[in-house]
Parts: sequence; structure tokens; C-alpha cells
Amino acid sequence: MNLQDFVTARYEQIAANLGHPDLTQDTFQTLEALSTDEVNKPALLAWLSDGLQKNDRRWEIRTALRCLAQIIQPRSYLEIGTRRGWSMAQVLSVAPRVNVYSVDMWIKNYGDVTNPGPEFVRAEMKRAAPDFVGNISFLNGNSHHLLPIFLDDIIPQQNGVDYTELIRQAENRPHQFDLVTVDGDHTALGAWWDLLDVMPHVALGGAVVFDDLLDRSDELFGDQPTSPFANRYPPLTNFKPSLKDVWLRIKRIFGNFAYIENYDGQPPIGVAIRMR
Ligand SMILES: C[S@@+](CC[C@H](N)C(=O)[O-])C[C@H]1O[C@@H](n2cnc3c(N)ncnc32)[C@H](O)[C@@H]1O
Repeated sequence: MNLQDFVTARYEQIAANLGHPDLTQDTFQTLEALSTDEVNKPALLAWLSDGLQKNDRRWEIRTALRCLAQIIQPRSYLEIGTRRGWSMAQVLSVAPRVNVYSVDMWIKNYGDVTNPGPEFVRAEMKRAAPDFVGNISFLNGNSHHLLPIFLDDIIPQQNGVDYTELIRQAENRPHQFDLVTVDGDHTALGAWWDLLDVMPHVALGGAVVFDDLLDRSDELFGDQPTSPFANRYPPLTNFKPSLKDVWLRIKRIFGNFAYIENYDGQPPIGVAIRMR
């Protein structure tokens, strides 16, 4: 099989398996192994369980990541937005040797629940993905400040912040990533920057998961992202406060990916697979 046939076969396998009930069942079990989150977890578990009963093959970010990780068997995983590790646990459960990079600024009480940070996530992974033997590196801070340095070796201006550790992490980063999640900043501009940062760093046959595809964004709640590197991105002309609008723009720019969207997800979600 040549490389192009291999990538096409992988895409077809992913498209056929998203929402498979066995994956939903396994996703459910891994979520159950994680710590209690009385605010958010019961609703997600009930939604997944309802789908299993109705056999309607519904899927959302964690089921999608489980499916992608099982099929791709990623060597490397870049996750923007980890929170309590619900996504990460799915990837680690099925790809126990993966090399993980987590980017999060650990916003307090995100989703009305504590967002404790790296040591909490490490402990969660031990419980939910006990077979994991890979490495997790945490890049703690604002993705718009970290990603250009980490992914593109941009040297930051002297601003009093010590970037030594980040620059060392960048020296050892994978050349490209087999799997990427963009689920951090939910402003349209912030998601635009994150997606533009990561898309050129996806390996052939690798995938990006974008959560979420709502036709609104956090600018509507007054949030405004900041980046010392804002000038390096094309502007969002005719701006709309919409994550879906950002995704549609990304699709127009990166024609070397195949896109799968689920607008019935909880919330809606997009997947992009690099075909060439
Ligand atoms: C929606 S949650 C991630 C959920 C996670 N993927 C899961 O499956 O449970 C978003 C996370 O992104 C982080 N975040 C938001 N904006 C960010 C930014 N600009 N840079 C880094 N992290 C950010 C928040 O602290 C939060 O932990």
C-alpha cells in the first residue's frame, strides 16, 4: 500500500468508526474512573448513555479522541485545553506510549469546578489510564504566548518572563504531531490563532479535533484574547463572534485536510485529517 492509499484508508476507518457504540462504552468507562465533577460529568454520562440505549452513534470530543487515538496510535499528542483531563484520559487509555504535550493556563473554576493543574491531571491519568507509560509535558500558560515559541521557535522579546524551560521543551518537541486537540480559548480570535498555530504541525495521516463548532464565541461574553505575536496572523476580516465561522475559514485555508463535522454533538465538534 502506498502512503496516499494508507492515509485514505485511515480516513475511511475514522469516518466509519466515529460514534461506534463500543467506543462510546469505553469512553464512558474511562470517564467514570476520573474524579467526581458533580457539575458537568453527570450530564455528559447521561448523554452518552442515552445514545447507547438509542444506538444513534452520537459522538462528542472525548469519544472522537478515543476513536482517533485508537486508529492512529499517535506517537505524539498536543492538547490545548486539558482542564481535568477528560480528553487526555481517552487518548492515554488507547495509546499508552504516546508522548503528550498539554497547554493550559488553568483558569480557576472553569466550568464552575476547580481546575487544579498538572499534578491533579497526572494523578487522574494514573487512575484512568493505568497502563500509560509515555511522557506528559505541561506547558503552563496562555497558548497565544506559548505556542509560537514552542512550535515555531519564535524568540520572545525581553519582557521579564523567563522562557528558558519552554525553549528547552521546544528543542525536544516532536517534528510534527499525530494528534492535536484545540479546546482552550473559546473566543473566535483565540481559536483562530490556536488553529493557525497548530495546523502546519500535523503529521500526514494525523488529526486535529476542534471543540466546539457553535455559531457563537466568548467575545459575546466580553472576553478578548491577547498575544504578543498577534501581528503574525492574518486578521479575521469581517469578524463574526462564531467558532463555527473560524472553522469554516480554516477549511478554506488548509485544503490538504479532510474535514468531518458533527453538529449534533454535545457540543458540536470538528475533526480534520491531514491527507497530503
Ligand atoms: C473546555 S476546557 C478543556 C476541556 C478538556 N479538553 C476536556 O476534555 O475536558 C478549556 C481549558 O482551556 C484552558 N484555557 C482557556 N483559554 C486558554 C488559553 N488562552 N491558553 C491556555 N489554556 C486556556 C482553561 O484553563 C481550561 O482548562
